Amino acid sequence: TTNHLRHVESMASLPSGAGKISHLNAVILGEALASEENDFVFPSDDFSRQALIPSPHKYLEMYKRSIEDPAGFWSGIASSEFYWKQKWGDQVCSENLDVRKGDIKIEWFKGGITNICYNCLDRNIDAGLADKIALYWESNEPGFDAHLTYSQLLHRVCQLANYLKSIGVRKGDAVIVYLPMLMELPITMLACARIGAVHSVVFAGFSSESLAQRIVDCKPKVVITCNAVKRGPKTIHLKDIVDAALVESAKNGISIDVCLTYENQSALKKESTKWQEGRDVWWEDVVPKYPTTCDVEWVDAEDPLFLLYTSGSTGKPKGVLHTTGGYMVYTATTFKYAFDYKESDVYWCTADCGWITGHSYVTYGPKLNGATVVVYEGAPNYPDSGRCWDIVDKYKVTIFYTAPTLVRSLMRDGDEASCISNLVYTLKSLYVTRYSRKSLRVLGSVGEPINPSAWRWFFNVVGGSRCPISDTWWQTETGGFMITPLPGAWPQKPGSATFPFFGVQPVIVDEKGTEIDGECSGYLCVKGSWPGAFRTLYGDHERYETTYFRPFPGYYFTGDGCSRDKDGYHWLTGRVDDVINVSGHRIGTAEVESALVSHPQCAEAAVVGVEHEVKGQGIYAFVTLVEGVPYSEELRKSLILTVRNQIGAFAAPDKIHWAPGLPKTRSGKIMRRILRKIASRQLDELGDVSTLAEPGVVDQLIALADS
Ligand code: WTA
Repeated sequence: TTNHLRHVESMASLPSGAGKISHLNAVILGEALASEENDFVFPSDDFSRQALIPSPHKYLEMYKRSIEDPAGFWSGIASSEFYWKQKWGDQVCSENLDVRKGDIKIEWFKGGITNICYNCLDRNIDAGLADKIALYWESNEPGFDAHLTYSQLLHRVCQLANYLKSIGVRKGDAVIVYLPMLMELPITMLACARIGAVHSVVFAGFSSESLAQRIVDCKPKVVITCNAVKRGPKTIHLKDIVDAALVESAKNGISIDVCLTYENQSALKKESTKWQEGRDVWWEDVVPKYPTTCDVEWVDAEDPLFLLYTSGSTGKPKGVLHTTGGYMVYTATTFKYAFDYKESDVYWCTADCGWITGHSYVTYGPKLNGATVVVYEGAPNYPDSGRCWDIVDKYKVTIFYTAPTLVRSLMRDGDEASCISNLVYTLKSLYVTRYSRKSLRVLGSVGEPINPSAWRWFFNVVGGSRCPISDTWWQTETGGFMITPLPGAWPQKPGSATFPFFGVQPVIVDEKGTEIDGECSGYLCVKGSWPGAFRTLYGDHERYETTYFRPFPGYYFTGDGCSRDKDGYHWLTGRVDDVINVSGHRIGTAEVESALVSHPQCAEAAVVGVEHEVKGQGIYAFVTLVEGVPYSEELRKSLILTVRNQIGAFAAPDKIHWAPGLPKTRSGKIMRRILRKIASRQLDELGDVSTLAEPGVVDQLIALADS
């Protein structure tokens, strides 16, 4: 194994002579190593020596303690590393995780009084970080940037907090945030937290209808947005989308008095922004007038911190609710250990704050640790595929956390060209290798399984074979990392999320809910609770219990499949429910279906996920048209447009498959198993179709597959 490692290391540096190129090609493309997928990749001795968790032994010691005495383990961390105005009551954790014993309840540090914004900013400033860079902001346009120190960030947060108070936002009120990756996004989250308001960030790629749906569900006091944003060469008029959403939500009885709008000058000028007097307020006109200090609203550890809507297996998005104390302790601790965080690190996570990754690992986890964070507004391949590494070099990024889909798309730039000639290949790989990247120390991956060949390219080419990769498995619901490598502690296996974080007990169960041991595969559940767990679905505790705690009573059900190998490493295999994962974005098949059937010419739709080279999964939609309506290219486009308008561009189907009928059982249930096989053209694996109400539809579908 060590020989093999040395081989990889020596191959991964930029080739100086043409002779090396074919070797490099092979390594990058994963070819040379394809037969060795289970090989270990060891951290270097140098890395391990300085690591927070330098050995499997140290990990095991801490892990054991966290499982045997969770209350002691977590309260030790909570009291030594955070500020509490008042200590929690007698019980660190009180929980019922078994539906057979009554309502599901999870509470950590109940009675403890704290504030997460205070812990992110004031506490770190008091500890001497006032002049440390808190945020580096990089604009979509190369050459435009800004930064804030911890004390400057606190001032900005306080000004906004004071403004929000002045318009009547109080503890417990919801605030909808529809902002791109400007510094104002984390500022807004922290300002809400400071005054005890509950932020609900909506990813600024969602359509006006999706935004309206969330506004109607959580009834915010105010909506915060900006006029426009540039992503790559495109300008997106966010304010127009908000305007449409507010019209829509007013129709549903929710009218919004204040729409606070930031002027994102590089994208659109004030004068060109549509405006509704009386409701719309320019951020720049009001916020800077407020004082730069603002008293903290002290809250209970179990008071809500934020709502984040995510997709499930039915059409209606779920408002995942996280509370303050446990989430704070959990995101900070997972950030620290999973990235082996050091004070000198510069950390960049490419995720948007509109998703959970941006909540836990752009805003809260890093800020609680006093980290310097890079926030990038734009597209990762703009103006070209070297942008990420340009940013890494510019800010001397040491920890780089991203999604497999980005890794694969940057890797593909090399792949495609390598088909043409090695010379072009070398030029293309220069997108990475022309930058030094020598500041990098730790890499991270999140959102979907990372395939071994992408893992190896990330490791060998991007990380120069010296940076461990933390492949972090977790979910919106879990608040923070659940299964993740701790860099330096363990040898890694490309594509495996390795072992559980402290305090987490993953179990693999069969379809009857029986735990299976050793080398096995099945449904991934979690036993016991951890501080970062979500506490409910907003306004629907019933759905919370039904979705997560009823399928396998006694456990939290993740919705993922997982296998464990002979060495105990965990391998996530993807969703086992009707959720698909497109470029790391969770999308419910039912959401896409209900968007499609809202089209007047669509009678029925069934959506399945299909393997996609770059996005992980693509969206494949079978569509039955209203009787008498002919198929046409125009109609195909209009169906896709309907989905874009109702959900967002990221949910647009990759393929519309015309379906005169859908395979159904005699009781009328769509047989998705068969649709998945047709979608992936595994036509010899259709299985038994004789139980279908009309077996003939299968042949019809196959005949229309490529029309
Ligand atoms: C998937 C994102 C494999 C998984 C943090 C999960 C992963 C869903 C990984 C949650 C990973 C996330 N390896 N699969 N490292 N990370 N997933 O809520 O299917 O947007 O259930 O949270 O993403 O997506 P969510």
